Amino acid sequence: MKVIIANDHGAVALKKKLSDYMQKKGFSVINLGVDDESSVDYPDIARKACTEYLKGGYDFGILLCGTGIGMSIAANKVNGIRAALPQNAYAARMAKEHNNANFLVFGGRIDYPETPESILQSYLDAFYDPESRHGRRVAKISPPIPASGLKHLVSWKLKTEMTRQEKESAAAEIKKRLEALNGRIPGLLSLTVRTPLLSSSDGDLLLDSTFSDEAALQGYQTHPKHLEAASFVRSVTESRSCSDFLF
Ligand code: RB5
Repeated sequence: MKVIIANDHGAVALKKKLSDYMQKKGFSVINLGVDDESSVDYPDIARKACTEYLKGGYDFGILLCGTGIGMSIAANKVNGIRAALPQNAYAARMAKEHNNANFLVFGGRIDYPETPESILQSYLDAFYDPESRHGRRVAKISPPIPASGLKHLVSWKLKTEMTRQEKESAAAEIKKRLEALNGRIPGLLSLTVRTPLLSSSDGDLLLDSTFSDEAALQGYQTHPKHLEAASFVRSVTESRSCSDFLF
């Protein structure tokens, strides 16, 4: 279990408190914030923490500034980040259950109605069900076309012995299973399966995906949810070609 924590000068004490709390819970805590009160700029710290998070391997991140507002605005500018600024423990639970927030943001100068630790704990105890209506909504706020990233293209040929109808239903199933990974794998910025090649001889399906970087692509390839979908893809396809490039 690994978490990133990062703060500006407005929340040094609260960062320490929440970091100790997470360590006691058994998390390995990566501190990318400041440990003294010399003035720094929260957008730089938010970007650093979000970029690191998107490399994969983290359960979630915690950001803190004086109010939490600047950090949440800055974090939510980064593709793939859903940063929530909960007012209380109820909102923290909802941030997980409804929004699958991958960053929780706190204000070091805010008087919370409950302890910040209990607000954090409420998020930790909550569960997100991607198959629910919330999954559909979270997918709608997943990043559109990223400004940069690692583009990963794969084309598959469905088994030649399949009838046209079998191919169409297999293609629809592949599309459904793979596109369901959007918003669920760290560093996966977008993933679309296209089927205009269904009758061409080059291949039947094209996976067009973008990752924050190579580590994120590797994390995707070994992620249990991807492996599950990939095993279905293998069962209905006979060949695969793939290319990665940065843009
Ligand atoms: C720094 O004084 C303060 O502006 C910052 O910590 C944060 O509250 C911004 O939203």
